[in-house]
Amino acid sequence: MIPHETIQKIKDAIRIEEVISDFVTLRRRGADFIGLCPFHQEKTPSFHVSSTKGFFKCFGCGEGGDAIAFVMKHEGYQYGEALKYLAQKYGITVVETEQTAEEIEKAQTRETLFDVSKFAADIFKNNLWKHDAGKAIGLSYFRERGFSDGIIEKFGLGYSLDTWDVFTSLALSRGYSEAALLGSGLSLEKDGRIYDRFRGRVMFPIHNLSGWVIGFGGRQLSNEKTGAKYVNSPASEIYDKSKVLYGIYFAKKTIADLDLAYLVEGYTDVISLHQAGVTNVVASSGTSLTVEQIKLVSRFSKNITVLYDGDAAGIKASLRGIDMLLEKGMNVRVVPFPDGEDPDSFCRSHSSEEVHDFLQSNAVDFIRFKTSLLLKEVGADPIKRAALIQDILESIALIPDEIHRMVYIQECSRMLNMDEANLINKLNYIFREKYKKSAASAERQIVDLAGKETHISDSDVLPTDSIPADGTENIQDEKNISLIEKDILRLLVNYGNKEIEKGVSVAECVIKHFTENEMSFSKAEYQKIFDYVKNAFNGNIDGISSGHIPDVQELLSIEDDDVKNLVITLASSQYSVSDNWAKKGVYFQNEEDRILDFWHSYMYEQLLAYINEQIEKNQHEITASHDVDEQFILLSKRNGLNMIRKKLSAELNRIVR
Ligand code: CTP
Ligand code: MN
Repeated sequence: MIPHETIQKIKDAIRIEEVISDFVTLRRRGADFIGLCPFHQEKTPSFHVSSTKGFFKCFGCGEGGDAIAFVMKHEGYQYGEALKYLAQKYGITVVETEQTAEEIEKAQTRETLFDVSKFAADIFKNNLWKHDAGKAIGLSYFRERGFSDGIIEKFGLGYSLDTWDVFTSLALSRGYSEAALLGSGLSLEKDGRIYDRFRGRVMFPIHNLSGWVIGFGGRQLSNEKTGAKYVNSPASEIYDKSKVLYGIYFAKKTIADLDLAYLVEGYTDVISLHQAGVTNVVASSGTSLTVEQIKLVSRFSKNITVLYDGDAAGIKASLRGIDMLLEKGMNVRVVPFPDGEDPDSFCRSHSSEEVHDFLQSNAVDFIRFKTSLLLKEVGADPIKRAALIQDILESIALIPDEIHRMVYIQECSRMLNMDEANLINKLNYIFREKYKKSAASAERQIVDLAGKETHISDSDVLPTDSIPADGTENIQDEKNISLIEKDILRLLVNYGNKEIEKGVSVAECVIKHFTENEMSFSKAEYQKIFDYVKNAFNGNIDGISSGHIPDVQELLSIEDDDVKNLVITLASSQYSVSDNWAKKGVYFQNEEDRILDFWHSYMYEQLLAYINEQIEKNQHEITASHDVDEQFILLSKRNGLNMIRKKLSAELNRIVR
């Protein structure tokens, strides 16, 4: 829980127009600000922000509240998450009560890393603008590249002096600890000496979503032929390059406004495009795109346009990364640059207007782009051609939306001069193969689950009628899915912290179960509790708190009446022995002693209910389908589901014996 004083501190620091303008473009009107409401579609602004009263109000859709409410609504955060987001924005450390000493230390480490990174960014900036060598070497380098002073300032660019340890000594003399310097990677240690990582390089600070400096890229100067072109900060408590997109802090607003993000490779591409007035741009910083980066950008828009250097090898290498974007349901377009040009060089040799026009008129759909690119290579070779078709269809198969897939099939049928039905057949074949794989892995998982022994001694169990080993007869024993989920949540809320097996808590089991099986809860408020616990457990409450398992008290502080009421019900209800257990005449004195057994039975009940739902859905699909090929796939899917159901029922009967 966040202590009261900290909440007050955060509230005191908040300036609502600052908070909101991270997401909405605001214009001043008198004492207030206005903008386009982010909560409904509108063309003329009816969204008002009062900085003096500290609240926002949309006269179009009626949405309103304070800065915390805004962040909750806009980012889909819980109250605590919103507070932590704001705390981070304003540099306030949140030390939650009931944190372990280790957790507190971790939070403090993060704070010192933010501090020392900011300090370093300031020093590097100062070197660039004030120091003789910085001016002569660093500043003139940037200016020669065509960066304006304004843009150098905006991105906080700097220079690290070409000395052994001037930065490190200065930082130490200002009271920054060796641990912080080494932890942030700003300093290195060798043979008991501690020295600067970045020496004689122009510096690009890397900002997180809230604008805090979390790391650096240091580029060597152009005339140097030896050594690494870039030295980058290593991973630290605050910097994980696979989760960061360079420029996201400066781009997020425009990405959301224009509902489009441009993706480039390098720091310099981002900066040059900004200078040309294209500000909805981020860079993956030379690495291949990660799922986390995609998630990050998709918070602001689902439309992504990838800007490519003109060389074909580079383009081919990155096609895989783009497949991942398709898989996540993003709409992907591509702008290929003329041979030998990258976005940075193009911006240097063209006017802003030309850059805008170029981007607008050269954006092509990704599948179309990939098809024509590969077609050029294939020529008349029939084997290569077959491989190409397979390759393209595999990309299309990744697209979650069926209508989009069909549009692409039509398009490719034209481009490849191939019968549409033929392509669809091939696509179905890919699905079939995929299905076989996923059915096999689902089965493995079930077998794994079944392998985990449950420990019920015979004396605990009263004699019961025998139950057919083939569980299919048993459907009347299956509970309504939301009741089972409620049972699971009750364990989670009341005994989340309790260990069931060696070192494994109830919460961990529940989180793993739902996450690994990619299942969600059937009711929104159930899901909310689960998500909250999961985020807390993963230490993901906006990246500040370290992992913990929330107790009832903390859950009650979630500012959502539905959730609060549910927590109260769950916490106060006597355990309702699972129907299955009760029917068999099995009762226990004390739920706490039997958590493992309860958990196993709930888990199987839940899986079973889930599979039954799938079977029902499958039945509808079979009835509705008129396509023989499709029916074939659905039927084989049904066989798989039935098999899983049988195993689950048997397993459940074995536990509740
Ligand atoms: N990069 C890196 N380490 C390297 C080379 C590249 O981390 N040794 C990353 C940097 O984030 C860089 C991006 O890959 O920005 C793209 O590489 P490149 O195009 O070579 O660098 P630019 O920043 O575009 O520099 P320049 O335009 O001066 O070549
Ligand atoms: Mn480049």
